[in-house]
This record gives sequence, C-alpha cells and structure tokens, in this order.
Amino acid sequence: MANSLDKISMKVEPPGPEAQKIIERDKKFMGTMNKVMPVVGVRGKGLYVEDVDGNVYLDFLSGIAVNNLGHCPPPVVKAVQDQVAKLIHFPGILCSQPLEGELASELNDIVPGNFTKKTYFTCTGCNAIDSAIKVTRWATKRPRNIAFIGAFHGKSIGALSLTCSKNAYRKGFMPEMPGVTHIPYAYCYRCPYKMDYPSCDVYCAKIIEEQYLDHVIPPEEVAAIFVEPIQGEGGYIVPPKQWHKEIRKITEKYGILEVADEIQSGFGRTGKWWAIEQFDVVPDVLCMAKGIASGMPMSACTFNEKYDIKQPGAHATTFAGNLVTTAAALATIKMFRDEKILENAAKQGAYLLKAENEMKDKFECVGDVRGIGLMTAIEIVKDKKSKAIDMDTRNKIVMGCMKAGLLTLFCGVSSIRIIPALTVNQAQIDTAVGILNEQIKLATK
Ligand SMILES: Cc1ncc(COP(=O)(O)O)c(C=O)c1O
Repeated sequence: MANSLDKISMKVEPPGPEAQKIIERDKKFMGTMNKVMPVVGVRGKGLYVEDVDGNVYLDFLSGIAVNNLGHCPPPVVKAVQDQVAKLIHFPGILCSQPLEGELASELNDIVPGNFTKKTYFTCTGCNAIDSAIKVTRWATKRPRNIAFIGAFHGKSIGALSLTCSKNAYRKGFMPEMPGVTHIPYAYCYRCPYKMDYPSCDVYCAKIIEEQYLDHVIPPEEVAAIFVEPIQGEGGYIVPPKQWHKEIRKITEKYGILEVADEIQSGFGRTGKWWAIEQFDVVPDVLCMAKGIASGMPMSACTFNEKYDIKQPGAHATTFAGNLVTTAAALATIKMFRDEKILENAAKQGAYLLKAENEMKDKFECVGDVRGIGLMTAIEIVKDKKSKAIDMDTRNKIVMGCMKAGLLTLFCGVSSIRIIPALTVNQAQIDTAVGILNEQIKLATK
C-alpha cells in the first residue's frame, strides 16, 4: 500500500538499497555535481516527500526555495495538465501566445515601483541574471558591475562573474566577464570591518562611495550593482534596513542601476512578494526564478520599461515564456492570492524564528539566528564567545535531521537554512523544531 504523505515515516536509513543504485548510476553517467543529500525523491504532496525506498520526509528545504507552495500544489498541477493537453510549445521568440503577456502584466503589478515594467522570461535563475547584465549594459552603455562578497547569482559565465560565495565555483573558469568589483556585504554577525551595528553607521555601505567609487571603480562606468536583498547561499544574511537605503542612495546619485536578485528571497519567502520590500527600496531591475512556477523551470527579469533592449532579436531564448511553465506561474500567483500565502508565511515565519531564538538561548553552538518570514537560518559555532565556525557539527545536525526524516540544508560556511513551504502549519513547525533540538543535542554531546 502506498505511504500516506502526511507524516514522517522512516523505513530504512538513507540512502536505502534502491537509492544507492540510482546514486551509483548518476555517478557513472552524469556530469559531476555536488549531490550532498543521499535522498532520491519520487513523490511529494504538500510538505512531505517520499524517497525511492519508501521513506517519507518532512521537507524544510523546499527544493531550495522552489516548492514555495509545497509539492504538487493541486491548482498548479491542474493548470499544467490542462495546458500540456492543449499546446506545449509555440515559438514565443517569433510569435505571440496568450499566456506570457498575461504573466508579464501580473509581474508589472506585483514587482515594486510606481512605473510600468517589462519582463524578459528565461528558464533558470542564472539566465535571469544574464538578462539583467544585458538590460543594464544596454540601458547605461556602461561596462562595469558591482557585486558582493558572499553573493550567489548562478553559474553561467555572466552570472558566475558576479557570484562570490565560494572559490570552488570560480576556480578554473577564468577569464570571467571583466569589470566586476566585489565588495563586502553587511554581515553584521561577522562584520568584515570588525565594527558593530548601529554604531558603525553602515560603514560597509558608505565605503562604496567613500573609497571604491573614488579610488577603484569610476562610477560613470558602472552599469549596475547586483544585490541579494538577503544573501542566500552566502548564509541567509539579513542586512540592516539602513544598509539597503544607503546602497540605493549611492546608486541613484551616480546613475548606477540596482538589480535585486530575488531568485531565492522572492516569491513570498519573507512574507511579502519580494524581500526588497522589507527594506522599503525600489530597485530598477528585479530577477526571479525558483518559486515563480512552483517547480516548473522558469525565470524572469522584470525592469523599468525605459530600460527595454529596443533592438529586435538582441535578447530572447527559445523556451522563454513557454506555455506550460507560464500556465504554472499564473496558477502559482492565483494560489498566493486565493489562499493568503503571504499572510501565512509572515505568521508561521514569526513562529519559526521564535523557536529558533529559543534554540539560541538553549544551545552554546547556536551562535546566530537570522531571517525574515520563512527565509530563516541558524549559524553553528564552536561557542558563542569565539564564534569559531563549526562545519563538522553543522553537517552532523543536517545529516542527523535527514536520517530522522527532516530535510534542511547547509548555507554559508557553517549555517543551516530552514525553509519550509509557505503553506506550512504550526504543528509541522513544532515537529521540525523537535527534531532539530534533538539533533543539536546529539551532535554536541
Ligand atoms: C540568489 C540566487 N541567484 C541566482 C541563483 C541561480 O539560479 P539557478 O541555479 O536557477 O541558475 C540562485 C540559485 O540558488 C540564487 O539563490
């Protein structure tokens, strides 16, 4: 009998025998990746996912912020099934079809900014970043970019040139796109300038104007600054609101366009459509992917209409705005509205963060708790005073949780991201918090 997908049920320690066969075949025939979790998923519903050996997990990793509405949300499944039976592909690069303009018009409404916005659709996050590189270069006719240390913007050569979270991503791939300068991010728990907020007066933002634009980067040559409103892969780092405000002030002063990379932080993750709204900033360009179509491959770059690349054919891709993925995105947006998903993310996020803060009070190894809404993480350290990173303990906790039936994920050097679907309820959070507490105890005893 099939497992019911409504509670954790562990039958065999992962990877079980069926999972092992699949993992071995992947190793033999697939290009090397970084498949750190030996979980082979085959079926999912809501917050639960089943592996090939019949284990059922509570998923607090959400396909890395993709399954924001849980696994296989029924309205999205129906929209996809209906569209597949009607028309799968029609060359959007040459002709129009009814759905992509509808979605672009929805994005015009939900992306911040009291101006008309246009959108280029693509298929995955790094494509949206590459679109933003082109849009901002085209609009400004400037060659340089600024990005941040710890940033993750993707792995295509354009996006990779902005990515700066791990050396391993960049090593061996020179030459990158020229003209990118990386600047320290506002990582207050480990301030790169060894200062404290708020007495620092966001020196890490002010230094951009005071030092970099004066000595290193001629501002009149900078097309865009790429910023994750909350750094994702880099460690779920939440900057002070004042930092974002200061960055915006500098970009406006020098005519530098601000690109908000909302690929991980967007689509409701923080309890608003976009994390940048939490900081009262309106960017010029906004990139999205992951949650946009509930797991169907889609991404988008939405921008002030005045930055449109008005040269036919200069920018487009074959699968952009594909009918099936677009139908999934439209159904996703509708479900957000019908089921008050943003409200639930804000409410359950506050509940989860409170529980994580209690972990910080209880355990010496929980050095920091960060997040807004359901974009949350805990940072694991050797002890609170030294703040020394402790990857081993962090890894033990994540793997222990997985074996106990809770999926979470690493981020930064020694943090754990805890990112359930935005449809999560309080009982599921209680279960996850119980497992995390238990695994922290076991990993540090
Ligand atoms: C903030 C951010 N930008 C860009 C990307 C790249 O997206 P993709 O892996 O879909 O190319 C990611 C992926 O994790 C991301 O988190």
